[in-house]
This record gives sequence, C-alpha cells and structure tokens, in this order.
Amino acid sequence: MTRRSIGIIVNGVTGRMGYRQHLVRSLLAIREQGGLPLGDGTRIWPEPILVGRDETRLRAVAERHGLTDWTTDLAAALARDDAEIYFDAQVTQQREKAIRQAIEAGKHIYTEKPLAESSAAALELVRAADAAGIRTGVVQDKLFLPGLRKLRRLIDGGFFGRILSVRGEFGYWVFEGDWQPAQRPSWNYRTEDGGGIVMDMFPHWQYVLEELFAPVRAVTCLAATHIPQRVDEAGRPYPATADDAAYGIFELDGGIVAALNSSWATRVHRDELVEFHVDGTEGSAVAGLRRCRVQHRAVTPKPVWNPDLPATEDFRAQWTEVPDNEEFDNGFKVQWEAFLRHVVTGAPFAWDFLAGARGVQLAELGLRSAREGRRVEVPELSR
Ligand SMILES: NC(=O)c1ccc[n+]([C@@H]2O[C@H](COP(=O)([O-])OP(=O)(O)OC[C@H]3O[C@@H](n4cnc5c(N)ncnc54)[C@H](O)[C@@H]3O)[C@@H](O)[C@H]2O)c1
Repeated sequence: MTRRSIGIIVNGVTGRMGYRQHLVRSLLAIREQGGLPLGDGTRIWPEPILVGRDETRLRAVAERHGLTDWTTDLAAALARDDAEIYFDAQVTQQREKAIRQAIEAGKHIYTEKPLAESSAAALELVRAADAAGIRTGVVQDKLFLPGLRKLRRLIDGGFFGRILSVRGEFGYWVFEGDWQPAQRPSWNYRTEDGGGIVMDMFPHWQYVLEELFAPVRAVTCLAATHIPQRVDEAGRPYPATADDAAYGIFELDGGIVAALNSSWATRVHRDELVEFHVDGTEGSAVAGLRRCRVQHRAVTPKPVWNPDLPATEDFRAQWTEVPDNEEFDNGFKVQWEAFLRHVVTGAPFAWDFLAGARGVQLAELGLRSAREGRRVEVPELSR
C-alpha cells in the first residue's frame, strides 16, 4: 500500500460547518478508515492545515484531535508547496477574497456554498479558476442525504411516471437568543454580514431541483423577516435585517412546479427538518433527510371531502417505506472523497465552481423577485 499525502488548508475550521462536518466527519473520518483507497493500492491521506483568526481556538481544535499543523496566517499556508487544496468554510462574506488568493497561489479549491455573494462575483471566480487551470468544487451535500438518494433511485427507476410537482418544507424554530441561546450564528440574521435564508438555502434548492428533477427556469419568491430583533452571541440585542423565511415557487423544465418553503421561524410538525413531497402520474413520494416513503397509483385510496365527519383513514399509514438497500455514509464525506479523487486522479466531478455559481444566481434572482414583487426568469449561466 502506498500512501499519497495531500495537504489541505482548512479555513474556518472553528465554525459549525468547518469543524463538525468537514474536519471531523469528513477529513479525520477518512484518516480513521485508513485513508481513501484509489483501487490501485494507493490510499489518499488528508493532511489538514488548520487556518483561522483566533490562535487559542485553533490550538484547542488541533490539540483535541492530535493535529499540530495550524496557523493564523493564510498567506503563509498558501505559500506552502505541500498544500495542494484550499478549502473554505468561513462566513460567506470572507469567501471571495480568500478564494482569489488561493487561485493566485495555484491551489485546487473546494468550498462551502454559496460560492460568492453575487453571480457576477461567482462567475469571475469561475473564469479565474479556469485561467489558472485548477480543479474546483462546491459543497452540495443534500444530494448525498440518504432520503434524497432513495428519491433519486425512484426517479431513475421510473417510479413516478411524469413528475408533476414538488412541495418542500424546510425549517425549524431558531431561538431569538434572549431566554434561550440561538442555535445558529447571529450573522445569519444580518444582511450586512452576508446573512439571510434565501442566500443560505436557495443554493441548495438549485442543485436539488436541477439534479433530481430539471433545471429551474423561473422563480417567484416572497421573503420575510418574521422576527425583527434577536440577541447575539454576546447577549446584545440587534436588529435582524435579513430574511428569516422564504416562500418560493420554482418553474422547472417539463412543466414541473416546485413550491419550497424555507423558514427559521416555524415549529416542526413533520418527521424530519426537511421534506420533499413529489407527485407523479404513476406514484408519489415523501423524502426527508433519511427516510423516503411512497404511494403507487395502484394503491392510491379515494378520499372523499366531507368536513361533517371526522377523518376515518390514517393517511400516513397508507405509504410504504423505501428500503435503504445500501449503506449511506456522511454526505459531506462522500463528496469530499469524490473531490479528492478528482484532484489526485482526474476522476470526473460535476459540482465545480460553475455549478456553485448557478446556486448563487438562483438566490440572487429569488431576492430580486422578492424585492420587486414579481416572477423572474432564470437565464442559462455559462463560463
Ligand atoms: N452545506 C451546508 O449545509 C451548510 C450549512 C450551514 C452553513 N453553510 C455555509 O458554511 C459557511 C460557514 O457557516 P457556519 O454556519 O459554519 O458559520 P460559523 O459562524 O459557525 O463559522 C464561520 C467561520 O468563519 C470564520 N470567520 C472568518 N472570518 C470571519 C469574520 N470576519 N466574521 C466571523 N467569522 C469569521 C469563523 O472564525 C468561523 O470559523 C457559510 O458560508 C454557510 O453558508 C453550509
């Protein structure tokens, strides 16, 4: 067995996503399984180089996991020859500048979404990366959720017939921060700091809709700030300037209509924090993070509207669970493995900067739709 070490600069490693999903659940998990096998006896061995602003917090993360390679100097990390990949999980606003530096340093780049704060900026990054001849990737973790993988299996197997519509509910109550601390960072609720649920969630909806169903051709969005004041990490009240809920209608190729609600101001009466209900001529499915249930045309009951009588049918019991039939690994890790193979062997990887730019574009057009109170068409993005 040969070990192929690969230095990966992990910037924003003290954050929620950088630490838990990317460092611990992906890169360190790959090391725990003995590296990533390439099939020819070689194993890719990630060597994280932790980068952040706060020395104390960085050192604490490193020590907790027996790591020694960390720095608060991004430029110095980028100057190292053994650092082949730059990864960014910083707050969104810091991303573009850091990615530009990484492109100039000739690193391959993987990043959290959204790629940038505007589609113009995202496209500039696409072009700069192309010119530098580097390999790029943007996190699209929802595609690798067990529930959506099972949904994908149903689509590929022709279960639905013609798909008519998708209804999605995403959200949960994010505490205001006064009598109970908020479970999301306060920058999420300030537009001036790159926050807002449209910028956060529409990049996800873009790739979920395009990859599972069809490209999005038009968007109508109503964005709301339901909770106008919150309390930050230091206990200080602040005005919540960003949208905390978005009610979106997406028109897809083939006449498919997707209506997706995203909210940080709703209480969950669902089985999972996100659920997609897909209706097709031959059957329907409800897919969540992990589960997926179906009802086929042949076993569809015939409810009759009669509000004078209590419901006698247990509608949920009329659905059938789709079996796993395989082991599902952490979605972030699965995508990391694909990106590492892409960098080391040139294996195909579909979720590059251009794919990420499409997500930014949908968020931007969703916000425009909300601002102007109208339906907005989504033009094709190209390099
Ligand atoms: N793929 C997903 O499901 C998913 C989920 C949540 C967040 N995200 C994305 O991940 C990124 C990070 O989100 P998070 O929830 O981990 O945020 P977070 O606030 O927990 O972490 C942000 C990180 O950025 C660093 N940082 C660098 N410059 C900063 C600055 N000027 N101000 C504040 N922090 C700064 C922080 O130190 C920290 O390490 C965002 O771009 C977000 O869109 C993706």
